[in-house]
Amino acid sequence: MKYRHAYHAGNFADLHKHVALIALLRLLQQKDKGLLFVDTHAGRGRYALGGGEARMTGEALAGAGAVLTALQGRTDVEPELADYAAVIAGWRRASGARHDYPGSPLIAAQLLRPQDRGVAIESQPAEFEALRKALGREARVTAEHGDGYARLRALLPPATRRGLVLIDPPYENSRADFRAATAAMRAALERFETCVIAIWYPVKDARDTDRWLQELARELARPACAAELWVHPPDSRAGLNGSGLVVVNPPWHFAQRCEIWQAALWPMLARVGAGSGGGSRVVSLTGERR
Ligand SMILES: C[S@@+](CC[C@H](N)C(=O)[O-])C[C@H]1O[C@@H](n2cnc3c(N)ncnc32)[C@H](O)[C@@H]1O
Repeated sequence: MKYRHAYHAGNFADLHKHVALIALLRLLQQKDKGLLFVDTHAGRGRYALGGGEARMTGEALAGAGAVLTALQGRTDVEPELADYAAVIAGWRRASGARHDYPGSPLIAAQLLRPQDRGVAIESQPAEFEALRKALGREARVTAEHGDGYARLRALLPPATRRGLVLIDPPYENSRADFRAATAAMRAALERFETCVIAIWYPVKDARDTDRWLQELARELARPACAAELWVHPPDSRAGLNGSGLVVVNPPWHFAQRCEIWQAALWPMLARVGAGSGGGSRVVSLTGERR
C-alpha cells in the first residue's frame, strides 16, 4: 500500500469529514447513554502541517488552514463550523503543537465522555505505531493494529446499543474500496441495525459516485443521506473534485444542518472562488423526511 495520509491531512476533504464527525458525535451525545465509536481506517492520528509531506502538496494550507483563518474572530458562523474551529484549537492548545492537525481518532478522543468508548484501527505498522503514540495515555480510544473491516464485525453490536462507525478507506483501488465499504456497511447493519455509519468517499467523476449511491439506496432498509462538497465541477479532470459522506441512520436534523454548514464552508476554501465549480449538496438516499 502506497497511501500516506500525511500528504492530505487537513485538506478540504479531511475538513469536511471532521466537521461532520464532530457534528455527529455532538448529536449522538444529546443522550446520556454511552456510545461506541469505531474508526475502521484510523491513520496515524497526528499530522505535522509544517512537515515535508503537507508542505509538498499544500493541501492543508488551502483546506483547514484557509478555513481556520477565515473563521478566526468571527461570531456569525454556523455553530458546526465554530465547533470545529474550537475543537482543533483546543487540541492544539492541549497538545502544545500549534501547527499540527489531529486526525479522526484524536478528534473523537477529545469529544468522548466517560461513558463512551472508542476503537481506532490501523493496518499499516508504522502508521499504527504513530497512532499508539499519538493517543498516549488517552484512555477513551484504544488503538488496534489490524484490518478495520474485520474488527468492525467483531465489535458490533456494543452492549449499550449506541454506536457511530467511521469508514474512511484510502481508495487506492477505488472500485475495491467502494465494494468493501458497501460490504462493511451491510455487515454492520446486519449486526446492529440502528448503528450510525459514516462512509467517506472521493468525488472524482460524479457519474461513478452517483451510480454507487443508487446501488446503496436500492439495498438500504435504513434511512441514509449523502453529503457532498466540491471544489471543482464534479466531472472535471482535476482529480479529487469533491468530498462525500454517506451517513446511514443520520441523527435527527443532521442532514438539514449539514446542508447549511456545507453551503457556508465551501466558499471559505482557498482557491475555490465564484465560478470555480465549487458547491455542495445533501441528498436523501432513501426518501424519508429529515
Ligand atoms: C484516509 S486515511 C484515514 C484518515 C483518518 N480517518 C482521519 O480522518 O484522520 C486511511 C488509513 O487507512 C489505513 N488502512 C488501509 N486499509 C486498512 C484496513 N483494511 N484496515 C485498517 N486501516 C486501513 C491506511 O493505512 C490509512 O492510514
